[in-house]
Amino acid sequence: MKITIRLILSLLFVAILVAGIFSYIQVRDARESLIDDLNRRSLLVAESLKESIVNLLPPNYKTKLNQLLEKFGNKERLFGVAVYDSQGVVLSATPGLFTKVPENVPQIFKSIQENQTADVIGTYQQKDIHIFSFPIRQNDKNTGAIVIYNDISYIKTRLDGIWENNFIRLLTLSLLIILTTVLVVRWSIVGPIAKLAEWLKNLRMGKSSKQIELPEGDILGPLASEITHLAKSLAMARAKAEEEARLRIIGETTWTAERLKEHVRIELGEKNLYLVSNREPYMHIKKGRKIEYIIPAGGLVTALDPVMRACGGVWIAHGSGDADFETADQNGKIKVPPDEPIYTLKRVWLSKEEEQGYYYGFSNEGIWPLCHITHTRPDFHLEDWIYYQKVNEKFAEAVLEEIKSETDPLILIQDYHFALVSFMVKSKRPDARVAIFWHIPWPNPEAFGICPWQKEILVGLLGADIIGFHIQYHCNNFLETVDRVLESKINWEQFTIERGGQITQVKPFPISVAFPSLLQNEMQDEVSKKKIKKEILEELGIEAELIGVGVDRIDYTKGIVERLKAIDRFFEKHPKFVGKFTFVELGAPSRTHIKRYQDLISEVETVTDKICWKYQAKNWKPIVFLKAHHSHEEINRYYQVADVCLVTSLHDGMNLVAKEFIASRNDEDGVLILSQFTGASRELQDALIVNPYDIEEMVDALEKALEMQQEERKERMQRLRNMIKERNIYRWAGNLVSALNRVRISKTVS
Ligand code: G6P
Repeated sequence: MKITIRLILSLLFVAILVAGIFSYIQVRDARESLIDDLNRRSLLVAESLKESIVNLLPPNYKTKLNQLLEKFGNKERLFGVAVYDSQGVVLSATPGLFTKVPENVPQIFKSIQENQTADVIGTYQQKDIHIFSFPIRQNDKNTGAIVIYNDISYIKTRLDGIWENNFIRLLTLSLLIILTTVLVVRWSIVGPIAKLAEWLKNLRMGKSSKQIELPEGDILGPLASEITHLAKSLAMARAKAEEEARLRIIGETTWTAERLKEHVRIELGEKNLYLVSNREPYMHIKKGRKIEYIIPAGGLVTALDPVMRACGGVWIAHGSGDADFETADQNGKIKVPPDEPIYTLKRVWLSKEEEQGYYYGFSNEGIWPLCHITHTRPDFHLEDWIYYQKVNEKFAEAVLEEIKSETDPLILIQDYHFALVSFMVKSKRPDARVAIFWHIPWPNPEAFGICPWQKEILVGLLGADIIGFHIQYHCNNFLETVDRVLESKINWEQFTIERGGQITQVKPFPISVAFPSLLQNEMQDEVSKKKIKKEILEELGIEAELIGVGVDRIDYTKGIVERLKAIDRFFEKHPKFVGKFTFVELGAPSRTHIKRYQDLISEVETVTDKICWKYQAKNWKPIVFLKAHHSHEEINRYYQVADVCLVTSLHDGMNLVAKEFIASRNDEDGVLILSQFTGASRELQDALIVNPYDIEEMVDALEKALEMQQEERKERMQRLRNMIKERNIYRWAGNLVSALNRVRISKTVS
């Protein structure tokens, strides 16, 4: 429960209690004083009547006494007066009196007997009555009593009024006190503490050291002063660390998150980095009644999240999770990573039709197979193309909105989903520096020529100042395509294209992963490795000595079926591994609304079943196919214990699974089998490079990997790790940002 609510409830309880007690006491006192007053008045009346009444007592009393008592009828609040004899029998009374009051009241007789005045309060016929008995003595003998009957309903009315007034007054007062207390607590405690917490958070995250007005006074004052000291020490320590980092940068070769942060600060100053991609880095999904987030599978997110963590800024992406809308604010924004917010994710909402036409249709049934030479036919439809343009426009608008108050902003657009965004942004904001990075291969001009809108796509891309590919080969293919399709000036030495006053540089930037891996910074010892392996095998319900692993989105470009066929052949050719080696495929279903992808999942399942049926024994399986989205932590466990990792893509821009596997192997063990058709194979020469179409070659590589001596494994892995250490994602981002920042902005685009 919130502290203010707790405070309000406790104060309210106390206020009601206090108001109740006070009202009760006041009502009790008022009642006593009214009754006293009544007694006094009754006594006066009785005394004044006494003489006259004594003279009128028997034997000659009747008529005159009746006449005297008659006068007391019809008086306000007074029912009447009666005279009793010594035995408590009525001698005379105000006419009609005993229709309103009781005649025989024991206390009257007692009062006569004891010669004591008595007052009795009671209820008769639902009326409150006060009876005052005044004994009369004659010649030292009790002769009777004068009894005065009063209507005291007015006392109840008056006491009710007191209750009501008092209670309302006290309650109002208490509520005012509560309100004042709550406001004072909010202004003087909760508010300042919240401000202090925000300030500390910003300070911790190195966002701003702007001094805030610190709370004073004896409660928060000492705390604030201690925190200020702490903050100053933190700021000094940070400044020192930054200075050291700056000095280190000059002499260092290795890029780290810190170095990138510093580099970006030097290059961009206070400017933000704007990143645009279709896939978002954190996707919120509903699991039963709970909302969880997942990190979508795919190299793009793996590579760019560490960059944004280091640089901060805004990442604009399609909000495609079923709980994305309710977790973002009204502008579609959310701070991420959700557990440690550093940068802003701006989600763009798409209709089902837009997603179908732009994402499934044009991007993934058209451009994806067009650029990956895997013998899957690209399908182009006019309707999809219209949606593709519309969604590119939508993202361009989102970018323009974000950068509207920034001069010379830096925008990094990602991938084949947004071929037109660079041009759209640049034509409205020529001062923007725009780079587009194409994460997939670029085919030769003949292959690209299949696309009916190749010209429009090229024009859209050439809106950018920089177009990045993973390898030089894809840059060359792109330049040749432009040369064939568009009127432009190509500089083959500088790798630039000039068209309509805009110069675009085409450069390779081989993408990579975070090194050291964000998941594992400690050296894995043999004991913990064995423990993880045992746990994994138990989870899978198998026993095996050697483990191979494959990690993929289930995509036809990844060569999964070819890999499985190679494993089948491997057991045929090397039966000694039957019962010893198990291959685990961690396959994340992907783009499942597209038939080709659905068919592929069935094919992988069928082939797996077939091979398992052929070889499996009691506690062993040749292949385990885990068809699910796996978290980075889960995947990392498999990487750590795998004897061999198989990356057998038929065509791949880079392939970051290969690099992630290497980054995760702190123990400098494990062998990587890598397809020659991945961009990564250009850098990772210490992997066993294979042609995934050549089953026999893959079988030999697998045998070599599993038979390789530990020394060789170590040497290879060390060299691979050095490569990734040097060419990590921070270097990639640093180079791209530097190149973009050096671009001369022409300010006009025709
Ligand atoms: C490739 C593409 C990325 C894409 C990823 C995952 O790596 O280059 O742009 O995000 O695959 O595919 P998906 O369609 O799920 O985003």
